[in-house]
Parts: sequence; C-alpha cells; structure tokens
Amino acid sequence: MNNIPILITPAADRALAEVTAQRFQLTLIEQLSSEVDLYLQLDEQGLGLCQQSSKFKPVYVDFVGGRLGFRRQRGGGRQQPLARAVGIKSKQFPYVIDATAGLGRDAFVLACLGCQVQMVERVPAIAALLADGLQRGQADAEIGSMLGERLQLLHAPTQQVLPELLVQQPKAVLYLDPMYPHRQKSALVKKEMRLFRQLVGDDVDAAELLQLALQLGCHRTVVKRPNYAEPLGEIAPSMSIEGETTRYDLYLR
Ligand SMILES: C[S@@+](CC[C@H](N)C(=O)[O-])C[C@H]1O[C@@H](n2cnc3c(N)ncnc32)[C@H](O)[C@@H]1O
Repeated sequence: MNNIPILITPAADRALAEVTAQRFQLTLIEQLSSEVDLYLQLDEQGLGLCQQSSKFKPVYVDFVGGRLGFRRQRGGGRQQPLARAVGIKSKQFPYVIDATAGLGRDAFVLACLGCQVQMVERVPAIAALLADGLQRGQADAEIGSMLGERLQLLHAPTQQVLPELLVQQPKAVLYLDPMYPHRQKSALVKKEMRLFRQLVGDDVDAAELLQLALQLGCHRTVVKRPNYAEPLGEIAPSMSIEGETTRYDLYLR
C-alpha cells in the first residue's frame, strides 16, 4: 500500500503538484473515486495525508507550528533521552543519519538541538510529506535557515544508501526507529498511527538494517524501542537509555 495518489484541490499550486508527483513517482488525480482510500491532498496548507473512509483532518508535516513548534520551544533540551542516546554533549553535536525518517519528528528535535541530520525515507508518500514540510519550514523567517543547514532528505531504502553515507561521514550516528506495535491510547496518536501504519506497514526488515549497520562498523547505532519490547532482532545492545515509555538501545563499536 505504498503508492497512493495526490489529489489536487482547486486551491493547490498545480506546478508544485506536478513536480512533487514526478519526484516521488506518485499519480495526480483531480477527483476521488470509490477505489481510493488513502491519498495525499495538496491544498493551501501544504501536502496532507488523508483517508476517504474517515473524516479526519489531513496530517501535515509541520515543523513550524503544532506539536513540533511547541517541542522546539519547550522541548526537553540536551538532557532528554533522545539527545543523550545520540551522544549530544556540551559542545558535541554528532552528525546523525536518521535511517527511518517517518514524519521527521525525531530528526527535527535533533536538528533543533544542534545536530546535522540526514533523513532517509523509503515510502514515496511519506518522503513527499517530508519534502513538503521541509520546503514550508525553510520559508519560515525564524527557523528556515536552521532547517536548510541542518536537515536533509534522501528518498531511498536506507540499505541502498548507507554504505556511501558512511564513507562520507564515518563518525555518523545511525538512528533507527522502525514501526512497532503501539499501545498509546490518545485519539491523536491513534488516528495518525492508524493512517501511518496502513501506509507504511510493518518494517519487517528492521533487524536486517541493524545487522547491516553493525557489519558496516557504524560508530554508534541507536534503536528506539517501546520499553516493553525485546531488543531489535534480539541483538543485545551495549547499553540502553530509558525514557518514560521509550527505550533507546545503543550499539557502540
Ligand atoms: C516509526 S516511523 C519513524 C518515525 C520517526 N522517527 C519520527 O519521529 O517521525 C518508521 C519510518 O521508517 C521508514 N523506514 C523503515 N525502514 C526503512 C528503510 N529500510 N529505509 C528507509 N525508510 C525506512 C518507514 O517507511 C517509516 O516511515
């Protein structure tokens, strides 16, 4: 279920829709048919993920306002488990390869803390949402230049690009946050997770990705897991950092 169409609304920028469709190999449609359930919609707010069978509002990647804007202003700083997991110290901001970028939330937090982050996302529709969020974010007066300098996107399966990325940045920290069964109950999480899971599926090759990282001799690999989950692929980490509901397993070379 990775290939979903882009619906162009009358308010949409047609040229932008065409460029986006071409870049991510998505089809453009002018109206919805009964066969379409998940789709992307380009409207005046940007590109959003929608579902015809539910009446939810579109899900956008919004680095400026919303939850991420709040997290940038009020978020936990360098002491938060994510920052400690990637190894942020007083004047040390590692280069991070976010190998499972998703909606870019963790990558954005790391960029705001000072890291350069290379996001990699393989699902075309998710990569398109990220690219749109980045483009709008880069136009923002307050955070635009920071985003332009620190947050990059590659649309590819990480397995294909990781060897080359590590040649360019041998000291990079590899960050993995593959899909896992979610138990959180909030309506917002449920809605987003449901749409997201339907689109992305289960990342069944996540343990292989970790194996590849270890084989390639990644300097530091961080795997985000729910507190209740086994280590990915049952590969014992060097150490773990516990958050409230999340655990970061660290594989140190
Ligand atoms: C749970 S989400 C990540 C959420 C993200 N950390 C965030 O903060 O928004 C997992 C994402 O990783 C992507 N992904 C999983 N395996 C991948 C791979 N081998 N290469 C590229 N993307 C991958 C999936 O398509 C999905 O979008």
